[in-house]
Amino acid sequence: MTAPLSSPVWHPYAHLKTQRPAPKVVGGEGPRFTLEGGETLLDATCSWWCMIHGYAHPRLVAAIREQAGELCHVMLGGLTHEPADRLARELVRITPEGLNHVFYSDSGSVGMEVAMKMAVQYHQLRGRPGKHRLLSLMKAYHGDTAGCMAVCDPEEGMHSLFAGYLPRHPFAPAPTAPFDAEPEAVSADLAALREVLERHHHEIAAILMEPLLQAAGGLNMTSPHYLRGARALCDEFDVLLVFDEVATGFGRTGRMFAADHADVTPDIMVLSKGLTGGYLGHAATLATDRVHEAFIGDSEMHAFMHGPTFMGNPLACRVALESLAVFEEEDYLGRIAALNRVLRETLLDDEVLAAHPAVADIRVLGATAVIEAHDTSDLAGVAGWAREQGVWLRPIGRWLYTMPAYITTEADLRRITDVMKGWFLAR
Ligand SMILES: Cc1ncc(COP(=O)(O)O)c(C=O)c1O
Repeated sequence: MTAPLSSPVWHPYAHLKTQRPAPKVVGGEGPRFTLEGGETLLDATCSWWCMIHGYAHPRLVAAIREQAGELCHVMLGGLTHEPADRLARELVRITPEGLNHVFYSDSGSVGMEVAMKMAVQYHQLRGRPGKHRLLSLMKAYHGDTAGCMAVCDPEEGMHSLFAGYLPRHPFAPAPTAPFDAEPEAVSADLAALREVLERHHHEIAAILMEPLLQAAGGLNMTSPHYLRGARALCDEFDVLLVFDEVATGFGRTGRMFAADHADVTPDIMVLSKGLTGGYLGHAATLATDRVHEAFIGDSEMHAFMHGPTFMGNPLACRVALESLAVFEEEDYLGRIAALNRVLRETLLDDEVLAAHPAVADIRVLGATAVIEAHDTSDLAGVAGWAREQGVWLRPIGRWLYTMPAYITTEADLRRITDVMKGWFLAR
């Protein structure tokens, strides 16, 4: 038995026997949130990577207030409204050329479920019902719903308990070539992908990937050449390409979308997290004309049978429009480039850190940086230690990372990287 906690809230990913009472957040402003009692913490993770404008951004808060006065919610079945229509047009404008159709849902996981169902039904409707499996990559993380768990890295442990319950899909090795690899250096990764496709293409509807940055599976970064090669393989083997840009979308890798680094249009692309600047849960699954047209037909099977209650929620769409306007008007890509320079200088160029015996690797891409430790035990206690320095860090396994809000100042980012380095060097 554990001591009863003061709240009945069951926390995510928490070990109930050892968990401590969660600190209570009472507010936030900019890159910091405030706890009951007055302690403020600089958020190095921008709340699981979604609060890209930081907390209490006046324009986003005002947009929600204004929309709440007009229309908080209405079903999207058989109806539409201006924020949903306008956001869909904006998403078509900013995403890679050819993604012309937008299906809304309420979270990244559900956005991925929509993508997977869409891919399987696409092949059904084209008379290829045998193509009903998905090809995913080792180190992948696509969410915690059943369909998503089945395409997460099966060995990493988080979902292995459910192996008997989940559908089985083939996996290809995680890409190993770094972001700046030459094309030749990516050829082994692509050969590994080809090898799985040669064996399984007749049963594969789509390849799923987090382009350039496999996030929760260990912040594994790879090359735009890998994305181009995957696109070519998909075309060769009649397999759809699905980009899960839930984490990478809206600037995290240094361009608006990771796909932009490679000039690749996936057949289906999923957005969430930064879509609403983190202010409300929402997701969008975009599809090309080719995918969309397969759903135009006479049979009952042509309807796409999915419709989350809160899809296209007006508050979420309205705040997403405001988030995008701020992103563009305030040159967030320029801000991200500046953050990237600080991350490189403070982490990547630090030879003492690189030589530390507990450090296995240091990687930086866009507004993302990770210090990979050799072992999870190397990071035991880091979150509590960082909190004492006024920084909210939450490592994933043996990866100590930051994905800050884009409004984080250079001084605050240096504070975050000092604390990340300090864990290894200054103790
Ligand atoms: C790449 C990726 N896909 C999907 C998800 C799932 O999103 P959600 O937590 O909104 O369901 C996440 C969440 O971290 C993610 O990083």
